[in-house]
Amino acid sequence: MAFPQTVRLVEVGPRDGLQNEPEPINTATKLELIERLGAAGLTYIEAASFVSPKWVPQMADHREVMQGIRRRKGVTYSALTPNLKGLEAALECGVEEVAVFGAASEAFSQKNINCSVAESLERFAPVLERAREANVRVRGYVSCVLGCPYEGEIAPAKVAEVSKALYDMGCYEVSLGDTIGTGTPLKAKRMIEAVAREVPMDRLAAHFHDTYGQALANLYAVLEEGVAVIDSSVAGLGGCPYAKGASGNVASEDVVYLLDGLGIQSGIDLDALAATGTWITQAIGRPNRSKVGVALSAQ
Ligand code: HMG
Ligand code: MG
Repeated sequence: MAFPQTVRLVEVGPRDGLQNEPEPINTATKLELIERLGAAGLTYIEAASFVSPKWVPQMADHREVMQGIRRRKGVTYSALTPNLKGLEAALECGVEEVAVFGAASEAFSQKNINCSVAESLERFAPVLERAREANVRVRGYVSCVLGCPYEGEIAPAKVAEVSKALYDMGCYEVSLGDTIGTGTPLKAKRMIEAVAREVPMDRLAAHFHDTYGQALANLYAVLEEGVAVIDSSVAGLGGCPYAKGASGNVASEDVVYLLDGLGIQSGIDLDALAATGTWITQAIGRPNRSKVGVALSAQ
C-alpha cells in the first residue's frame, strides 16, 4: 500500500485529553479549547463524554459543553455515549455524531465500562438503533488493541473480531486504541492487517497513546498500510482513568508536522494548532507534551 494523499485528524483533546485531569477545568476553558481547535482547521472534534459523573467527574459538564459550542460549518462535534442513557442526553444537546467504546480485552472492558465484551456489544446495539433513528452517525472504539494493562498481550484476531462486530452493527468507522501506548510499529502493522481483513481499511482509524514514545512510529507504520484517519490530542494531553500510568494521545501538532513532511494533506494550520497547545497547557498548568509545539513556541 502507498501512503494516503489526505488524512483526517480526529481531535480528541477536549475529551480524551481532559477526562483524566484531577483538578476541575471550567466549562468556559473547554469551550475556548474547542473554538480554537476549530479555528486551527480541525474538522472533527470529540468534545465531551456522556458517561457517569461518578466514574469520570471531569466530563460531568457534558451538557453545558455540548450546548455551549459555537458550531462552525464543516466541523463535526462528537461525544462518547456508552449506553442509551448517554445517547438520549447527548441527543437532547443536539449532538450530530457519537461514539461507543468497547475493548479487545475482557479485563479492561470490566474496569472501564463495568461489563464483559459480549455484554458491551449487547448494550451498543440499541444505542446504534436509536442513533440511526435520530440520523446520528456512530463511531466505534476498540481499546487495548496493542496490549492491555491487566491482560498484557492481546491477539490481533481478538481485535479484528470486536472491530468486525462494531462495524457489522453499524459503526461507520472503527478507531483502534493503543490505550496504554505499548505498541511498536511491526505489531501495529500486523494488527492493522488482521483488522483490515474484516473491516475495510478506509473505515479504520488509529488512536495511539504515546506512553512509551512509539506513537508516531506506529502511525507511520499504519499510514503505510493505508490508514487515513488519525486520532490525536493537542499538546499530547490525556490518558484513560482505567489504564494506570497511561499518558496522553499522540500530540496533534506532532502528527501534523509528520504529515506535512510526508506531503500528506490534513488542512490544518500548524502554527494555530501549536499556539492552541501552548495556551491550553498554560491554562490548565500542564506540561506541553508536543515536541513540535514546544519547538515552535520557542521560536
Ligand atoms: P454501570 O455502573 O455499569 O451502569 O456503568 P448502570 O446502568 O448500573 O448505572 C450506574 C450509575 O451510573 C447510575 O447512577 C446511572 O444513572 C449512572 P446512580 O443510580 O448510581 O446515581 N449512569 C450514567 N450517568 C450519566 N451518563 C450515563 C450513565 N449511565 C449510567 N451515560 C457506565 C456503566 C459505562 C456508565 C460506567 O461504567 C461509566 O461511566 N464508565 C466510564 C467509562 C469512561 O468514560 N472511560 C473513559 C473513556 S474510554 C477511553 O478513554 C478509551 C478511548 O480513548 C480509546 C482508547 O484510548 O483505547 C475511547
Ligand atoms: Mg484514548
